[in-house]
Amino acid sequence: MPAERYKTQGIELEALARITELIGAAVDLDTTLASILEVLGETMRMERATLLLYDQGRQQLVIKASCGLSEEEEQRGVYRPDEGVCGQIFQSGSPFVVPDINSEPLFLNRTGARPTMSRSRIAFLGVPVVVKGDPEGVLTVDRLFSDDVSFEEDIRFLRILATLIAQFLTLHREIVKKEARLVAENASLKARLHQAHGGHFIIGKCKPMQEVFSIIEKIASSSVTALLLGESGTGKELVARAIHEGGIRRDKPFVRINCAALPETLLESELFGHERGAFTGAHAARPGRFELADKGTIFLDEIGELPLALQAKMLRVLQERQFERLGGTKTFTVDIRIVAATNVSLEEAVAKGHFRPDLYYRLNVVPIILPPLRGRKEDIPLLLGHFLAGSNERNGKRAKITAELLDFLVTYPWPGNIREMQNLVERMVILAENERLTLDDLPNGFLRERSSGEGPRIVPDGAREPRRRSLQDIERQEVEAALRRNGWVQVRAARELGLTERQIGYRIRKHGLNRQDSFRRPEDDREGG
Ligand SMILES: Nc1ncnc2c1ncn2[C@@H]1O[C@H](COP(=O)(O)OP(=O)(O)OP(=O)(O)O)[C@@H](O)[C@H]1O
Ligand SMILES: [Mg+2]
Repeated sequence: MPAERYKTQGIELEALARITELIGAAVDLDTTLASILEVLGETMRMERATLLLYDQGRQQLVIKASCGLSEEEEQRGVYRPDEGVCGQIFQSGSPFVVPDINSEPLFLNRTGARPTMSRSRIAFLGVPVVVKGDPEGVLTVDRLFSDDVSFEEDIRFLRILATLIAQFLTLHREIVKKEARLVAENASLKARLHQAHGGHFIIGKCKPMQEVFSIIEKIASSSVTALLLGESGTGKELVARAIHEGGIRRDKPFVRINCAALPETLLESELFGHERGAFTGAHAARPGRFELADKGTIFLDEIGELPLALQAKMLRVLQERQFERLGGTKTFTVDIRIVAATNVSLEEAVAKGHFRPDLYYRLNVVPIILPPLRGRKEDIPLLLGHFLAGSNERNGKRAKITAELLDFLVTYPWPGNIREMQNLVERMVILAENERLTLDDLPNGFLRERSSGEGPRIVPDGAREPRRRSLQDIERQEVEAALRRNGWVQVRAARELGLTERQIGYRIRKHGLNRQDSFRRPEDDREGG
């Protein structure tokens, strides 16, 4: 082999090596193809190189990448698959050489890149790009004609290159397909999640919450009774709505009733409705919540407070979906899903004789336990971020939580759970003077309410070190905090503190506590059912 040939082969090999490298590192189809042609132009001393690919939509061969052509020239380079030399290469699937483009009538020079009155002769070489046996495009180069050029060698090299490009195209298509599948899968998963949780934004990456999500998803499409168990403010209502909106009943009513908010007779009439004249003041017949919830979901909040006298009637609705209005004889049958919630232990209530065991078993078909916030520390930063974003948006602020405050809030025991956090964040965002929220922005007394058992006690600076509290102070604050947490329902606050109703009543009078003087938190204003 002549020395010249060795040299050419060396250059070709180098070009191939660079091109394979480009393909290996490919991120984007167009840029990679353009770089491949650039390497070709550089190493092969070629004037122009183009890669035409068949465009199914346009039914034309279109320049996909080029080297040595302006953008305008590129755009002009569009051929019908039966047009000119490129069309012929594409249709026949064989290479084509035009030793002198000026003397070849088939040569269209559509791009206008080649001067027609050139003194040097230009040779044109083209090879098909074949993907899985089918021609998909054409790779062409122009090179200045000289006698030592061996077209055969050039064609051989171009064919290797065309094969590499074809493989790259195949690979790329597979990736695109896979990507499209992943995107679709992702979208459908998101949609399912959104649906399953009824579009409610329930935050929780901790394991117990993942468990909650999985149960919601499993039961949403059925009508099985669910019982939500969790402390105040742990998200029971949010989950109840998510169950409703994740299922087939989502377009039907979601009716909530708080069993602790009304005295017995009123509650009975609220639940089951009444006929005209059923009791003094019943001037007209009125449907109850069960009737209103027909085809939808009824959310029986604080079911643990349901008076014993109403429990039998409730049991019948659970078992037979039937009831009569107060003062009525007509039996109503409803199609409802029942979701109940309680923040007291029903088992204990059963043991104490406050709750019918048969009703408890009927309710406890699918129990869902909502963990208290102090037990899900990993979710605290997420939740803070979520509420901060909301409060900022509502109040047109850009508050941020500093690291020291975050540290404190992660170890804070959150007796009022997520609702307490939501209120705290809203309050700090509204009141803060600076964008950076620090320990100083915590409401007065907040540091003091922190349980002393957990973590190092944080005292931001000497000035804010809370004064030593007297026993009287502590008692007053504890009682008031418990009342606030329980919406000023004395029975519940007493239970939380381990006091009897009489004992808490005594302390309320002693410290002159009343709801108006206490800081009004949004939770105190919630509708009673
Ligand atoms: N995982 C969560 N992600 C985002 N927000 C939440 C989450 N859990 C609760 N919240 C929000 O916290 C507040 C309290 O939740 P919710 O009213 O559902 O609690 P609850 O358990 O019903 O409380 P209570 O027993 O006092 O009625 C609501 O504003 C709710 O949107
Ligand atoms: Mg609630």
